[in-house]
Amino acid sequence: MQPSLTGAQTIVTPDQHVLSLNVQPHFFTLADNFTRRYSFDGEGRLIGAFREGINYRRGLRGDVLRKQSLAPGQKLRHMLNQDERQNFLHEMVTHMSQLAGQLEASQQPELNAWLERILAWDVPRLEAERERFDAIYKPISILPPDHYQAVVVQATEGCSWNRCTFCTLYHDRPFRIKGPTELCQHIHEVKGLLGHGMGLRNAIFLGDANALIIPQPRLRELLEVVQREFALGTGNRLRGIYAFLDIFGAERKSVAAYRELREAQVRRIYLGLETGDPEVFGLLNKPGSPAACVEVVQAIKAAGISVGVILLAGAGGERLAAQHVANSLRIVGAMGLGEGDLVYLSPLMVPDESPYLAQLRDANSQPLDEQAIDVQLDLLKAGLKAHVDPATKVVLYHLSEFIY
Ligand SMILES: C[S@@+](CC[C@H](N)C(=O)[O-])C[C@H]1O[C@@H](n2cnc3c(N)ncnc32)[C@H](O)[C@@H]1O
Ligand code: SF4
Repeated sequence: MQPSLTGAQTIVTPDQHVLSLNVQPHFFTLADNFTRRYSFDGEGRLIGAFREGINYRRGLRGDVLRKQSLAPGQKLRHMLNQDERQNFLHEMVTHMSQLAGQLEASQQPELNAWLERILAWDVPRLEAERERFDAIYKPISILPPDHYQAVVVQATEGCSWNRCTFCTLYHDRPFRIKGPTELCQHIHEVKGLLGHGMGLRNAIFLGDANALIIPQPRLRELLEVVQREFALGTGNRLRGIYAFLDIFGAERKSVAAYRELREAQVRRIYLGLETGDPEVFGLLNKPGSPAACVEVVQAIKAAGISVGVILLAGAGGERLAAQHVANSLRIVGAMGLGEGDLVYLSPLMVPDESPYLAQLRDANSQPLDEQAIDVQLDLLKAGLKAHVDPATKVVLYHLSEFIY
């Protein structure tokens, strides 16, 4: 019996290939001559690749996102179409079986088991994951970037508001809240889909757009199901529950209700403030108001739950840019953010026929182009440094980088 192998290791094959391995209980990475690298989850499914200087991420649904740096600060992000994706997977499967052949001479039990699991996934099987995923989940439209590795549990579907002028993320479904039995069944299916891939997941994200607006008695029941099913609070690697909340719903919960959520393992709540400027806020047709958002954030934080506040870079266009930046910094500065809190900057991306653009025209403003949005991103980043406690993280939230 060979000694067991966990951790990083380099193997030089007889034909002088340098293979770098990282064998872990929950993931496996294999790099060939430092030019190609593949990563796999506990089931042996591809989750990431690096080839010819280009990064690829494969989500649980099987979508593949290509990310390429063109110049400093300039990135190309592209979701592969079906043909591109299948060619990419075909090349990966062929390459992996060649590499596995080269590793035969140095086999060790864990390595052997990983290679067997990985080679069991051919292109049709990898592609069939899409149907399995779609049978369990409604499309996962967006997550905060720190939760791409969470287990998403859809306690609700859609957005209870769904009328912000710039946002089309949940237009494909009506809002509804699941009951405890349906949620339990959903969680069992999610666990089945993840299998040993569960080992890579570090938190629960309660979907969809604003799950925490569920009235407290029903929410309590649903959170109990989540806590029980994932054994939250028992020292496993799942850090707790995270979710979105819109400001309208948030106005209705008291500090005591948020304390109860904290007890139920809710750890951070994400709110789309988008702008601190009341005029821009009106153009966006967000529910609530910037001032109400400050009160909501203070109530959430008073209960010991962290927040993630999202700002839209570019909102309000040219004419309103200065007041959007100044008032956003003022409002976020008034929230008392600190350790554990986040501010996300999301560059506004809207299609030509967006009702937001009609609102902007009526307000005699012009949309900002990509470069101007980048300039505003830098202004917001620099301004936030001066307006919020330095322990608050400021992070880019790019819709086109999202993959689950
Ligand atoms: C699920 S919502 C956030 C939580 C909650 N529904 C709310 O609105 O407060 C998702 C976030 O995605 C971002 N988003 C939506 N549409 C966008 C767009 N067209 N361009 C850029 N960011 C967008 C917004 O910042 C929005 O707050
Ligand atoms: S921004 Fe939030 S509240 Fe507005 S429509 Fe989108 S998901 Fe709903």
